[in-house]
Amino acid sequence: MSKVTVVGAGFVGMTCAQRLAEQEVAEEVVLIDIVEGKPQGIALDLNQAAAVEGYQARVVGTNDPADTAGSDLFVVTAGMPRKPGMDRSDLLEVNGKIVNSIADYVREGSPESRVVVVSNPLDTMVYLMAARTGFDKKRVVGMAGVLDAARMAYFISEKLGGGIRDVRCMVLGGHGDSMVPLPHYSTVDGVSIEALLSGDEIEAINHRTQHGGAEIVNLLKTGSAYYAPSAGAVAMAKAILRDEHRMLPCAAWLEGQYGLDGLYMGVPCILGRAGVERVVELELSDADMEKLQVSAAAVRKDLEHLVSAGLLAG
Ligand code: 2OP
Repeated sequence: MSKVTVVGAGFVGMTCAQRLAEQEVAEEVVLIDIVEGKPQGIALDLNQAAAVEGYQARVVGTNDPADTAGSDLFVVTAGMPRKPGMDRSDLLEVNGKIVNSIADYVREGSPESRVVVVSNPLDTMVYLMAARTGFDKKRVVGMAGVLDAARMAYFISEKLGGGIRDVRCMVLGGHGDSMVPLPHYSTVDGVSIEALLSGDEIEAINHRTQHGGAEIVNLLKTGSAYYAPSAGAVAMAKAILRDEHRMLPCAAWLEGQYGLDGLYMGVPCILGRAGVERVVELELSDADMEKLQVSAAAVRKDLEHLVSAGLLAG
């Protein structure tokens, strides 16, 4: 029987649990949170919804890490969201402590599991999870590129006035303002958007993609996006558990690819049962390669912050 644990019963966590149950990605979906009653209440509600929707998955709400033991996969969403005016890096220390404490029970109770990290700042939280669990880095991966690419796809479909289904986008780099949208590798039914939109239109879409998270934070005022983030995390969970070998942009461990070594950052990956089966190296223009290095420098700065805060060994 397959078991997926969603850590954190905030909006991202609860919508992940809903999508996992509705799409029957696992037979058992555990939702864990430190707030008493909240995951239990959401689980009860989702189990009752199953009578209408007809899904077979069972949702278990809990505050006890022991209930997560034996999970095949974790989706880690726990942590504080941004408030208007905040940068994702402002969450480093508070969310770093939370991720470290989760990593301890992931390692103890589910030593064979795969982990999809969603908590922000994403590229450093996934690094912490891998370091603290000591898991093979292929088994620990971060969700951001799927979300950023989804945002870009929406903006393209909006601009073209067409459907979104055939739009495929690629966004690399850290999940921050310096992420690198790649119009050259973004297509509508196989046709590069460079053939469909003007340079200025593409530039505007790139910019809006880079600030897509903040746009929603500013509208919501209390909290950040959750429908598209949970859709991204569940797509990755499915690709892993169903061994789909899908190519998706994910925060993966880099060992020399794109000239980067010893950090997690967004790159195209093949995802399957083992986790990240392969990092795909795209040919990039000098300008995009340079932007990627700038993005990596921002991620490294956050990692140094975690080391000086005592949350990560140097
Ligand atoms: C976002 O970009 C929460 O980082 C997430 O919306």
